[in-house]
Amino acid sequence: MCGIFGCILKNGNAAPIIHAGLKRLEYRGYDSVGEATIHENKLFIKKDEGQIDDVHTRRNLDNLPGRIGIGHTRWATHGAPYQANAHPHTDCTGQTAVVHNGVVENFMELRRELEELGHIFKSKTDSEVIPHLIEEKMKEGLPLSEALRETLNRLEGSYAIAVVSAEEPNKIFCARKESPLVVGVAEDAVYCASDIPAFLPLTNKAIIIKNGELTVLNDKGCETRKIADWTPVSREPEIISWTSKMAEKHGYPHFMLKEIYEQPLGLKDTLRLQESYLELMTAFLDRAGEVFLVACGTSYHACLAASYRFSKLAFLATHPIIASEFVEQHGRAVNIDSTILAVSQSGETADTLAAVEHARLRAATVLGLTNVIDSTLTRISRVYACQQSGPEVGVAATKTFTSQLSVLAQLALRLAKKRGKVSHVEIERLEEKLEHIPEIAGTMLQSQGEKIKQLAKKYRDAKCFFFLGRGISSATALEGRLKLLEIAYIPSIACPAGESKHGPISLIEPGFPVIFICPKDETHKTIIGNIMEMKARGASIIAIIEEGDEKIKSLVDDYIEIVKGVPDVLSPIIYVIPLQLFAYHMALERKCDPDKPRNLAKSVTVK
Ligand code: F6R
Repeated sequence: MCGIFGCILKNGNAAPIIHAGLKRLEYRGYDSVGEATIHENKLFIKKDEGQIDDVHTRRNLDNLPGRIGIGHTRWATHGAPYQANAHPHTDCTGQTAVVHNGVVENFMELRRELEELGHIFKSKTDSEVIPHLIEEKMKEGLPLSEALRETLNRLEGSYAIAVVSAEEPNKIFCARKESPLVVGVAEDAVYCASDIPAFLPLTNKAIIIKNGELTVLNDKGCETRKIADWTPVSREPEIISWTSKMAEKHGYPHFMLKEIYEQPLGLKDTLRLQESYLELMTAFLDRAGEVFLVACGTSYHACLAASYRFSKLAFLATHPIIASEFVEQHGRAVNIDSTILAVSQSGETADTLAAVEHARLRAATVLGLTNVIDSTLTRISRVYACQQSGPEVGVAATKTFTSQLSVLAQLALRLAKKRGKVSHVEIERLEEKLEHIPEIAGTMLQSQGEKIKQLAKKYRDAKCFFFLGRGISSATALEGRLKLLEIAYIPSIACPAGESKHGPISLIEPGFPVIFICPKDETHKTIIGNIMEMKARGASIIAIIEEGDEKIKSLVDDYIEIVKGVPDVLSPIIYVIPLQLFAYHMALERKCDPDKPRNLAKSVTVK
């Protein structure tokens, strides 16, 4: 995620304004912070690890000269949060400073190339290649805007960038591809930022920079061009009517809803993980004697889904285990040949860490998947991958779940490739589908959002729900049920649909709502049988189906449609989204605050 803020003031000192702007962006990341200003043709920088207030206490972020500057609050993706990795990053001459939000996918190749040309790198970040590439282009005699343009053409991945340089001391150069960037225009200043809330107390006039545009801020405002063909773009500022509170949530009433709608973007970022880490994890999984997938809550559901994929694609049997049960259930069986893949959004969940500690003591290999670099899990894992979802504020996990599912799918696909159990054609088909998942998630949210809201109105007074799925959709069912019970306080039941007739079905009476998760996979025929069983007992059936599934439509009371062609192993990523939205709207219908469910904490650090 990361937050960027920059400003050119007509008068006064930029540093305190940048500091305040970064504070308003702290929700985008908070593990290190830095500022760069330009004064009398010189570049000044302060940066350090830690939260903004701590760094300010140690280093006084307001004490930098100049009326022009940029700043950054970091959410680590490449390189742990220590001072050298904090932004801004500079080139070798110390003339140009860059702040970056996004992921440079090809940074390793670029870094190698630049090092061969003699560039010295100070950090482990992907971002640092940017100032060095600019420097290289400026050496060829290009002005900064063109050097930046040429640099951007070399970057693969996503970026929002702000650059200041002693070479052109009265300007800030910005550009974006996928990561957000907005310009704020006031009488006496111009600002750039990752999000509108950063400058909203200073101006309500915003120009949204679009994908593939480069904009140069100067004393008069900003000049924007398309990076591809350098044509000028003219865009009038929009007047923003949000209050600061609304702006923090991008105009959404709750963080949970904002985070649900952020999933298409989050899923894109998750596809940009560093290959080397995934490759290493795949190698460990491949040679493991046995694999335990260990996690709690929502992360456990991701593990459960993963176990189906490892089996189907890589022919690898894994044990998904609830972390608090791990030691009792498998503690003595763990040994030097065991591999533990621990999944934890926060990387700090006490039960998960306790399971990992136990495994380490028994010489097992620990792999970690987390959203927080430098969390305890990253420190105690032999290899870890960061899911790159950005901070999640809502207590109920939403975007971090779908990102976990995506990373675990990537791992399963790599392992499948390595083991050669599934044809290359099939793997390529799945990889291509995974690339399209963010888009499919976006379409789903756009087309079904209103319908789900209406469903919540219809079922608002239900006392209990069943969630049923077969195969990998059992994990989706469990997650849908967890969302509903944790934020709308509706006691609910989830199990594999085949299991329902071994007991739970006795609860069914006329009108009892049952939610079926029914992708068109190998389980489709059988789940129709399960729907019939429930229908015969008078249940009200809601089904999450593939678009145009007329057979199921004709059987059920209500349905939500998902676009065609999502392969079964990827289906939980999409099919869970309507369940998240349903839980959200049910919470609102029942006057519960979805962002702050009672008795719960975002990170559970006690056993
Ligand atoms: C539910 C939820 C929790 C967490 C669980 C594990 O919405 O958020 O069930 O998934 O507490 O947390 P992490 O993934 O941080 O280990």
